[in-house]
Amino acid sequence: MKGKVCVFGSFNLDVVAVMRRFPLPGESLTAHHSMMGAGGKGANQATAALRAGARVHYIGKVGNDDFGLFARRHLEKTGFDAITLFTCKEKPTGNALIYVAGDDAENMISVYPGANTTVTAAEVTRCQPTVAAADILLVQLENNLSAIQRMIDNARASGTFVILNPAPWQKVSDALLAKVDLLTPNSTEATQLSGVTVTDFDSARRAAAVLHRKGARQVIITLGIAGALLSTPAEQQRIPLFPAQPRDTTGAGDAFNGALAARLASGDDLPQAARFAAAFASLCVERAGAADSMPSYAEALARLQAHPECLVEPIESITA
Ligand code: RIB
Repeated sequence: MKGKVCVFGSFNLDVVAVMRRFPLPGESLTAHHSMMGAGGKGANQATAALRAGARVHYIGKVGNDDFGLFARRHLEKTGFDAITLFTCKEKPTGNALIYVAGDDAENMISVYPGANTTVTAAEVTRCQPTVAAADILLVQLENNLSAIQRMIDNARASGTFVILNPAPWQKVSDALLAKVDLLTPNSTEATQLSGVTVTDFDSARRAAAVLHRKGARQVIITLGIAGALLSTPAEQQRIPLFPAQPRDTTGAGDAFNGALAARLASGDDLPQAARFAAAFASLCVERAGAADSMPSYAEALARLQAHPECLVEPIESITA
């Protein structure tokens, strides 16, 4: 692996309000902080992969509007190897309204995907050489499924390793899961994909077993404060949670996925890459914003080294 990650995914303009608590239906509540910035799971994960040390080609689609212009300027100065940013004439740039509230800096997000869901077959075909040149293709579910499926098919045809972060959840076929090398749902998405209600480590293990039966070869289920479960048909391991002082949890999953892809692309094995990604994500939650809250490789390395007790632990095989 040469450390090249291609991220196909959404760009959204995020508007964030930080509040003491979430508003109730019908209530107007004063926010004590507000900001606007680059977001979208694709752009966030691409930024995380870049900061975690990968060479990144980002592929996305925006509207022919001011937010689209903002996206292009932002992405051009981020430091990616390359960007392919298509423009949609019919739909606006995706946007997200985000509330952040409470001591644990939890978030609520409403996303209008707009142009993100208009990627055509011809546009996917134009990206084929980029996908073929990458070690890893990282995709989420914030674009139209037809384009995501075609990107994955192209990656498989050229032997590029595929990571699917199934967020936000939309129904996907078992045939698609079987084409993915690594599937990374959170507990909600794992529940929706497997039919097993994931509330803790044990239920995550049962959900992972179902996902393996559906064809997913390697699965990491992120479990919030419980850490994460790494599962293959042969073994399960517990990925630790690194201590953090949460300020804004927006983009934490994106931080994890981007860093995971970067470390796998550089040659780490899956447990090593997942441990690094957990440390990386713990830094992201301490900062406000999404794409702009990604830490550097050096910061994540320092957190790893500061917590030698946070180890990947093997657990016995699932028998269910
Ligand atoms: O994962 C966080 C992201 O979800 C935000 O940046 C928002 O744009 C939504 O896509």
